[in-house]
Amino acid sequence: MKTVTILPGDGIGPEVVSATLRVLEALDIGLSFEIHDFGEAVGGVLPETVLESIRRNKVALKGPTMTPSGGGYTSVNVRLRQELELYANVRPFASMPNVRTRWSDVPLDLIVVRENTEGEYAVKEEKREGRVVATFEFTNKGCSRIAEFTFKYADRLGRKKVCVSHKANIIKLSHGMFRDAAYKAAQKYPHIACTDLIIDNYGMQLVRNPSQFDVMLHTNLFGDIFSDVCAGLVHGSLGFASGANIGDEYAVFEAVHGTAPDIAGKGVANPAALMLSSVLMLEHLGMKDAALSVRNGIMKTLEDGIVTKDVDRAAGVTTNEWTNAVITRM
Ligand code: NAI
Repeated sequence: MKTVTILPGDGIGPEVVSATLRVLEALDIGLSFEIHDFGEAVGGVLPETVLESIRRNKVALKGPTMTPSGGGYTSVNVRLRQELELYANVRPFASMPNVRTRWSDVPLDLIVVRENTEGEYAVKEEKREGRVVATFEFTNKGCSRIAEFTFKYADRLGRKKVCVSHKANIIKLSHGMFRDAAYKAAQKYPHIACTDLIIDNYGMQLVRNPSQFDVMLHTNLFGDIFSDVCAGLVHGSLGFASGANIGDEYAVFEAVHGTAPDIAGKGVANPAALMLSSVLMLEHLGMKDAALSVRNGIMKTLEDGIVTKDVDRAAGVTTNEWTNAVITRM
């Protein structure tokens, strides 16, 4: 029996987590769950019990958590990723049946790999007279391990291209080190093309012609931004964007989206993003048939034209109705 740590989180978190747990329970593959309060419910701290649980179980499935802007406590997500050294944030974006966007006629299949433990999000800020001094750090170790992870991952999936982003023309040393680490890692994979783009041009090229990209390697900040851009391009919603935070010892699976305060408590959140994150988790655990079963349930539901309100405001169904549809099609 495999035990998974479950962190429902805030806002729509408990709604999409309970929908995903219904799907995992329907698989009947002997998964058990250790559910812990996380986020606002525990005052934004990172409880030792949660860390102990993930260290014991090695994997967790997590809902989003609220982070106050402009002050207040530091993001519990950032601290969790740093504490467990979950240095690779992998976010696949593939076109979905009956989810129409302006790119629907061009099948898209992109993967964002985001450095997850350092860079701009390991920022230290200090107020001085009339100034805020912000410092952040890129390390050789951090740049090398995310670059090596990206090429290994791309190779395993048979991907052909990796494009690394940076702003090394301005932030010369740190972003230069990030870019150079990608070219160094690429040397072991001559069959995978490695290119780089300055982030502003990258953004323009991505929205102009997304299908030219394959695997996209980003710094922590750029990866965060480009994930939402890809969700908009490929799905027209954050409701399908799944993700995995992966380290050498532990992995935490979570959707790209946040707590969606505008729809929380209304029963209309799209649970697909977390369900697809659970597919990544099942694959990580080597449970390939179970992963395929959930993925098929999701795809068949969409093929049958059953969607949530983020896709079709008028005809979209509720979180529960959509989950029922997935379970009957798995
Ligand atoms: P958000 O991702 O929560 O929402 C952006 C928009 O997407 C909203 O209109 C929302 O209704 C919609 N949306 C998001 N997920 C959806 C879903 N599953 N189904 C249907 N619609 C969905 O971003 P926002 O509003 O900027 O952030 C809200 C809070 O979430 C903030 O406190 C932020 O710090 C936190 N956050 C947490 C994350 C995490 O825990 N991993 C990631 C991103 C944001």
